[in-house]
Amino acid sequence: MAGTRLPATLLFLLFLCRCILMVGAAVGVNWGTLSSHKLTPSVVVDLLKENKIGKVKLFEADPSVLRVLMGSGIEVMVGVPNEMLGVLALSAGAADIWVSQNITRYTVKGGVDIRYIAVGNEPFLSSYQGQFQSFVLPALVNIQQSLAKANLAGYIKLVVPCNADAYQSSSVPSLGSFRPELTQIMTQLVSFLNLNGSPFVVNIYPFLSLFGSSDFPQEYAFFEGTSHPVVDGQNVYYNAFDGNYDTLVAALNRIGYGQMPIAIGEVGWPTDGALSANLTAARAFNQGLINHVLSNKGTPLRPGSPPVDIYLFSLLDEDQKSLLPGNFERHWGIFSFDGQAKYPLNLGLGNGRLKNAKDVNYLPSRWCVANPSTDLSSVANHMKLACSVSDCTTLFYGGSCNTIGEKGNISYAFNTYYQVQKQNEQSCDFDGLGMVTFLDPSIGDCRFLVGISDSNCSCLGCGVFCGIWFLTFWVYMIFRILGCV
Ligand SMILES: *[C@@H]1O[C@H](CO)[C@@H](O)[C@H](O)[C@H]1NC(C)=O
Ligand SMILES: *[C@@H]1O[C@H](CO)[C@@H](O)[C@H](O)[C@H]1NC(C)=O
Ligand SMILES: *[C@@H]1O[C@H](CO)[C@@H](O)[C@H](O)[C@H]1NC(C)=O
Repeated sequence: MAGTRLPATLLFLLFLCRCILMVGAAVGVNWGTLSSHKLTPSVVVDLLKENKIGKVKLFEADPSVLRVLMGSGIEVMVGVPNEMLGVLALSAGAADIWVSQNITRYTVKGGVDIRYIAVGNEPFLSSYQGQFQSFVLPALVNIQQSLAKANLAGYIKLVVPCNADAYQSSSVPSLGSFRPELTQIMTQLVSFLNLNGSPFVVNIYPFLSLFGSSDFPQEYAFFEGTSHPVVDGQNVYYNAFDGNYDTLVAALNRIGYGQMPIAIGEVGWPTDGALSANLTAARAFNQGLINHVLSNKGTPLRPGSPPVDIYLFSLLDEDQKSLLPGNFERHWGIFSFDGQAKYPLNLGLGNGRLKNAKDVNYLPSRWCVANPSTDLSSVANHMKLACSVSDCTTLFYGGSCNTIGEKGNISYAFNTYYQVQKQNEQSCDFDGLGMVTFLDPSIGDCRFLVGISDSNCSCLGCGVFCGIWFLTFWVYMIFRILGCV
């Protein structure tokens, strides 16, 4: 009897393990805040909750963000900016202070559920030319010690999100290896991660592969199959994500850590600013990715074991991000800057589709446009100024506003500037070339935005509060005058 019971027990255990694995693997989001129209942090936390998003990754320990995450139950990865690595590497005291000010302050009872600290953000990126490289390990060691002193070393894990350019392959995934100049540091890093039970965190962007290479086969970037699969011995790759992931698995294997768990720190698809950055493609990629990961199929080199977590890039559009990568850089959100879903997406978290942010504190429905009755020949400098502080990326080739015409261009630039200036009256002047309108000038897919107010107290709230205060004051005065008080 024992003979038949044992397999059953084993099966049950296997089932249990699988369940535990499935509970662990989850979809989270990156929440960046490089925006001139910042949603109130509490509105964003409500947006996360409404969408049942239980994991969020932050690029820094922004106090206004961490404060509203207190008591939310959301698991948080807090980032250390690359610029801080130097000081944290050189001084154990600086690490203690950083941990106490940015971590332990929030890990009180009913506080923030900080699970990971991301030490640096893609610190080995080739274009940094090694400037942060030597700081990473010493910073890890110092922060780990500070966590140990705070009794948090077992609970909060240190990770280092790496760009996929940390590894390469001359052809097929199984030939993957870390960049030669990184082999030593990667070996030390992975050994550190392994010792502390941390995953290897990597950012994978098939969009950038497609965008950067004209001979990259389009369907290979997505998950619907391709007529140009990559054949690697017995393994066949039908999508760039799996191919890239297994290149990392091979690289890890080469340095002796083939079993290292992997989490995806950033993955996503932008919706504007380039031809291949559009709503249809973003939806297809993100939905395909989520379905693929949640199917638990894994990859040829890791069958049945998908990444431990994936953090979508990104939650919201950020109009102040650098344009160096391209015009698409400000359009990675699954939600627009104001928390409105850009396309239907099933995150696999139980809702079926995205729910929009509520109680968004918009500025009044007003836009700034080019005054049709004036001569606009002298407008170039105004446009340049407007677009240097605000976001005009949608106007360029491949953007959603590229075909709105010359006058449309001018109006768009005027308006985006006016909204960044919080609809300040003078900001729509442009030497008499601009005018305020109450009719939405949006044309087709080209949306003329209305900004959001970043005052913490909503205008309505302020109005009601001030109103009540005023009323109380006058009632008191009248009673006083009448001699009742
Ligand atoms: C975190 O701690 C450092 C060092 O004490 C401090 O300078 C910084 O302002 C804190 N916040 C962030 C977002 O890093
Ligand atoms: C959207 O992007 C996809 C992927 O690159 C491309 O095939 C398609 O033509 C684009 N759609 C539009 C309407 O530009
Ligand atoms: C509008 O501006 C964009 C970006 O400078 C440009 O590509 C486009 O040709 C402009 N349209 C017209 C009609 O000038």
